Amino acid sequence: MDLATKYLNLDLKSPLIISSCRLSESIDNIKQMEKAGAGAVVMYSIFEEEIRNDDNFNEYNFQLNADTFAEALTYFPNVDKQKSFLNQHLYHLKQAVKATSIPIIGSLNAISHQGWIDYAIEMQNTGIKALEINLYHLPTSQQSAEYLEKQSLDLIIELKQKINIPLVVKLSPFYTSLKDFICKLDQEAHVDGVVLFNRFYYPDINVKKLQLVTDIELSSSYEARLPMRWIALLQGQISCSIAGATGVETTEDLVKYILVGANAVTCASCLMRNDIDYLQVLLTGLEEWMREKSYNSISQIRGLLNLKSISNKTEFERAQYMHALRSFAQSSMYER
Ligand SMILES: Cc1cc2nc3c(=O)[nH]c(=O)nc-3n(C[C@H](O)[C@H](O)[C@H](O)COP(=O)(O)O)c2cc1C
Repeated sequence: MDLATKYLNLDLKSPLIISSCRLSESIDNIKQMEKAGAGAVVMYSIFEEEIRNDDNFNEYNFQLNADTFAEALTYFPNVDKQKSFLNQHLYHLKQAVKATSIPIIGSLNAISHQGWIDYAIEMQNTGIKALEINLYHLPTSQQSAEYLEKQSLDLIIELKQKINIPLVVKLSPFYTSLKDFICKLDQEAHVDGVVLFNRFYYPDINVKKLQLVTDIELSSSYEARLPMRWIALLQGQISCSIAGATGVETTEDLVKYILVGANAVTCASCLMRNDIDYLQVLLTGLEEWMREKSYNSISQIRGLLNLKSISNKTEFERAQYMHALRSFAQSSMYER
């Protein structure tokens, strides 16, 4: 069974990629991922805020005793450059690259223009095979969608010119005209791939303590439906790679993402819920499904159910909404 796939122009031995998450903080985990069949690993993100806090901390310590007497030099903290937050992350990326033969993809989440550019360049120098940028931004100021999207696009155009490894953008589904934005990323910024979609975490409220609660719930299969629909709509219409992200709980979810046209499929929650070796369960399941259906390569199944390939195109578009509501009303009436 040939599970090989191309993603970001990289040759992957399987379409299953580890999504950016804390599991990649351990080199042993990364080795285990490779052994269990992962096609690539996206490392946990570095956030500009974390780097800045670290810089602020170092700056603060330097200033603390600076205007006392000479002996104060000995009060200076032993700020070993190697230990700064960014350098630790870069070191970890290098170790991950060294420890495995599958592609290691860095993940960056910056806030300032200079941050995006500088950290991306530093990260590419670690030997990572591609860079994923996480465009998480919550626009709470009153700026138009057009302005914000133009800013993102200009930044990505510049970033793409400054680095020479593949660039992939992890996107949110919350764009007024998502297809237009993705087409611009593809055709104007020439990104190598898009990850559909980023998953957001929303604070809850503890009504007993009158407090905000920040917690993470792992995803479930149902959440895969939104990215699957968009992949089906986009595949064949953009030239960059598409990774399906969110909601891979079972082999079926993995198969569905490939059927709608994903070049690769990422997962995090299912590995946290089970174990890293759960990758083997997913991949063995994929092989069994392919055998049952008499397919022997990923390229034979990729996109079989994208928008262009299905006869009832309306099911991916507006009419699907109406059908879903009508069919629910009918089936619940029959049940009564
Ligand atoms: C504990 C945890 C940590 C995560 N850390 C990151 C991160 O650092 N950067 C990022 O882009 N996504 C991060 N994510 C999001 C995942 O990469 C992924 O997009 C999301 O979990 C949806 O995939 P899943 O349904 O397979 O879990 C994290 C998710 C979890 C559960």
